[in-house]
Amino acid sequence: MRPLVVSAKKAPIAVLISGRGSNFEALHRATRDGRLPAEIVLVLSNVPSASGIGRARSLGLATAVVPSRGAGSRTAHEARVRQEIERAGAEWICLAGYMRLLGADFVAAFENRILNIHPSLLPSFPGLDVQQAALDYGVRVSGCTVHLVDAGLDTGPIVDQRVVRVRSSDTAGSLAARILREEHRLYAEALRRLLVEEWRIEGRRVLFGPPSATSAASKRE
Ligand code: GAR
Repeated sequence: MRPLVVSAKKAPIAVLISGRGSNFEALHRATRDGRLPAEIVLVLSNVPSASGIGRARSLGLATAVVPSRGAGSRTAHEARVRQEIERAGAEWICLAGYMRLLGADFVAAFENRILNIHPSLLPSFPGLDVQQAALDYGVRVSGCTVHLVDAGLDTGPIVDQRVVRVRSSDTAGSLAARILREEHRLYAEALRRLLVEEWRIEGRRVLFGPPSATSAASKRE
């Protein structure tokens, strides 16, 4: 008798990039080796020369380039991005080195279904050049954050974080490289939890587990 194969539904995701795309590749590996019950249905870049797009094509994935430069208004650009995402049937959006702020209308259209990865322990060091900023400040630990996206700059509710120790010998480049290794693990793990576990948002907190279990646990604490 043939074994019964139960295939769990895979979440269709779009990955948005602007450059190298190593986080996109890490997500892709996780979908392939069974760590992430998801399928990348679109890799979209706002930068035509982004090397990650070439990599996505060579992996046989659906890709789209929607240049932001010369696109006119942000609203016009986002309308085109949204069209591509909807056409691909994506239900989740992973920003992976996508260097653009998303407008309130776009965020509302995919409420709590857009994730971003950022190379610092938010709320410290949002924005750009964050490893140099962390070194200049003299912090002893940095790391990375996966958060749900709102219309602010790196401000949405935090899903998970990983800590990376800063070394005396660190340059922005060496720190970025160690953080990136953690990013590659964290992104798939954080998305996996959102896909397979029960969760909700209370205030700014992303709480996992059934409401009764969480409130019983918090009463015991
Ligand atoms: C990653 O370190 C990611 O966290 C960062 O850009 C890099 C992209 O690398 N994103 C941000 O700074 C967004 N605020 P990748 O293209 O190799 O994934």
